[in-house]
Amino acid sequence: MTALQPQSAAAPAVRSVSVLGATGSIGKSTVDLLAGHRDRFRTEALTGHKNVTLLAEQARKLGAAIAVIGDESLYGELKAALAGSGTEAAAGAQAVIDAAAHPADWTMAAIVGTAGLKPTLAAIGQGRTVALANKESIVAAGPLMLAAVRQSGATLLPVDSEHNAVFQVLNPEQRGGLARIILTASGGPFLRKTRAELAGITPAEAVRHPNWAMGAKISVDSATMMNKSLEIIEASYLFEVPDEKIDVLIHPQSIVHSMIEYIDGSILAQMGAADMRTPIAHTLGWPARIATTGQRLDLSGALSMQFEPVDMARFPAINLARAAVRAGAGHPVVLNAANEVAVEAFLGGRLSFDKIENLAGEALQRADIGRISGMDDVIALDAAARAIAENALRALQ
Ligand SMILES: NC(=O)c1ccc[n+]([C@@H]2O[C@H](COP(=O)([O-])OP(=O)(O)OC[C@H]3O[C@@H](n4cnc5c(N)ncnc54)[C@H](OP(=O)(O)O)[C@@H]3O)[C@@H](O)[C@H]2O)c1
Repeated sequence: MTALQPQSAAAPAVRSVSVLGATGSIGKSTVDLLAGHRDRFRTEALTGHKNVTLLAEQARKLGAAIAVIGDESLYGELKAALAGSGTEAAAGAQAVIDAAAHPADWTMAAIVGTAGLKPTLAAIGQGRTVALANKESIVAAGPLMLAAVRQSGATLLPVDSEHNAVFQVLNPEQRGGLARIILTASGGPFLRKTRAELAGITPAEAVRHPNWAMGAKISVDSATMMNKSLEIIEASYLFEVPDEKIDVLIHPQSIVHSMIEYIDGSILAQMGAADMRTPIAHTLGWPARIATTGQRLDLSGALSMQFEPVDMARFPAINLARAAVRAGAGHPVVLNAANEVAVEAFLGGRLSFDKIENLAGEALQRADIGRISGMDDVIALDAAARAIAENALRALQ
């Protein structure tokens, strides 16, 4: 029995839902789906961080009970934007956590980065269904998060397209016959560039993903393959599989979203258009299916699919992640935190693109990584890793 083998509960006719990170890329796709199924979902809480205008617009569109803006200084603006709407306004980091703990049958956890950790845990604490997009929270606190899932009896459904694909094809009754998980990776916008060619990459180039429209952080992570690296750790925790049984294959077309291989040689894949509305809809309707307004994979024309191995020298992040997950829970915390600092520095023009993985590797070497016994340890190590990465960053300038 893994934390991902959900309890079977009869779904209510109208489900109450909350969206954490509603103003982001995943959040907007979720709101889009909810707007298309107003008869089936009632919106409780929506949260954003800075984008008051969009948050208020979404709250009005869905008739949300509460809208919360993370940046406390924007409270007045949000309240004014919601005047007469019937939606309550709130602001601040604690208000986001409170919104996550506000009862809802289904909560989308789509805040970016470790900022999503406490809200995601608060949502899990409700013991209902949590659709997990916020991969950094499971990378930083996987074992603790899964323990919280078991304790509260929550159902955790993976939204990340790769993990959602594995979840869709992995029959819980045949888990004992699982030989390996094969995560597919587009390879990002610079797949064919050499490492030497990466030094001059600009943020605008790095966020322009060839197949997926995503937020800035995950787009940069896709370009360095740190995204796939975090996904190896995420898969290892979610499916309780050692990283040796998790392979990565470059698949530039992003048609197969991931595969599993059973010990009898059968390989099962989940395919679809590169549109996050499909995995989001899978979790929103689960265990039933709901229609989406998203793109469809067109099988009527010539469809060619390639799969190739990852060049580990070209994408060193993959080996960093494998080493981190083998070394134990504290190492993924450091890798994740240092990467967040590095990506922010790159987007802010303080670090060149080709140094992002170096900074993460440097933090892993320098950090004093002890045992993780509870959430306080995760938060302290995350802060220490950020300070180390900032110091290493200054030394590079
Ligand atoms: N985008 C994808 O296709 C995709 C696919 C798989 C997994 N994911 C994962 O899903 C998560 C969200 O990704 P995204 O691409 O949707 O990111 P995004 O577009 O950057 O959106 C991030 C969301 O988090 C909010 N936020 C940012 N900092 C916050 C803070 N300190 N406190 C509270 N809220 C904060 C943002 O609010 P404002 O915009 O209002 O400032 C926004 O709503 C990430 O963990 C990512 O790895 C994304």
